[in-house]
Amino acid sequence: MTVATIRWIGERPGKARILEQTLLPMETRYVDLSSVEEMFDAIKRLAIRGAPAIGVAAAYGVLLGVQGAGSQSAAQVLALTEKSAAFLAGTRPTAVNLFWALERMVARARRELKPNASAEDMIAGLFEEAHGIFEEDRAICRRIGEVGATLIGHGNSILTHCNAGGLATADYGTALAPIYVAVNQGKSVKVFADETRPLLQGARLTTWELMQAGIEVTLITDSMAGRVMFEGRVDSVFVGADRIARNGDVCNKIGTYSVAVLAREHGVPFYVCAPLSTFDPSLDDGTQIPIEERDASEITMGFGMRTAPPGVRVYNPAFDITPARLVTAIVTEVGLIERPEEANVCDALRRGGRKF
Ligand code: MRU
Repeated sequence: MTVATIRWIGERPGKARILEQTLLPMETRYVDLSSVEEMFDAIKRLAIRGAPAIGVAAAYGVLLGVQGAGSQSAAQVLALTEKSAAFLAGTRPTAVNLFWALERMVARARRELKPNASAEDMIAGLFEEAHGIFEEDRAICRRIGEVGATLIGHGNSILTHCNAGGLATADYGTALAPIYVAVNQGKSVKVFADETRPLLQGARLTTWELMQAGIEVTLITDSMAGRVMFEGRVDSVFVGADRIARNGDVCNKIGTYSVAVLAREHGVPFYVCAPLSTFDPSLDDGTQIPIEERDASEITMGFGMRTAPPGVRVYNPAFDITPARLVTAIVTEVGLIERPEEANVCDALRRGGRKF
């Protein structure tokens, strides 16, 4: 799977090239972003979205903010890094990869600020850090794919929600990665993609991505997930995550919780695929995860067509929490976390070198 979701173009000054996801599947257009403000706007409007991709975008956004500061002092580059990071932190509140990547960039700038450091040294360090975040995400997604593929049998039918594929990461995806690996291993795999109301990441993005890869995919509306499970047509569920609390509670796109409840009712394993950067060990449980609420017009005027009376009251949370007890296992780059709970979540984080 090689969807070029986000790439750094050129050396310095360079640009961040993103696939403009709001236009998919009708148009495949790449846009070049050359300022931190343009990156802010792209993340906010979901032109680039999905937790790991948001993290990479944020790191490149910081580069856009500092790359022109070579003639300033090293201390000024640090100040500019912190300012750019604080600005980008205001884009979306739920995916913790955003804050994780921004903290990494600021920490790198602080480390580079040695007594004789020049602005050029600082900026070079920040470029290395951002490219490192990008490359690590690619490698981690491959690893998640290898670990997750062991859960997929020949002929399996898998249901997924939202888009947790290459479009949501630097490459390859999280929840879709095991499917790509399983198919590469010669297994036959079919996918049911929930359309994912209200912004249709499943219908617009997941089906597009899987069709590009030649993988059999059937689109259903969110409310049909129960029906296909009742019919015995789903062997397992694979979803991504935006933030996972220390006790294993999973925050993901709105509607994920309903799928998990249905999976439990029908005895279908429910797998969450996520890099360790999606974990937030500072939170005891999912109730502490900030849930983004988005504009009412996404529901009343979806894609420009009015489908509800003007003035109607609307509630539009973009994410929900799936309690850890409904999760069969979390698939990470350091292996499976089976029956997630605080002890084994912390153990996986330690094995991955996360400090908390
Ligand atoms: O609002 P979005 O499209 O950014 O939400 C994306 C999701 O909920 C994904 O499932 C999650 O970020 C995991 S992406 C690998």
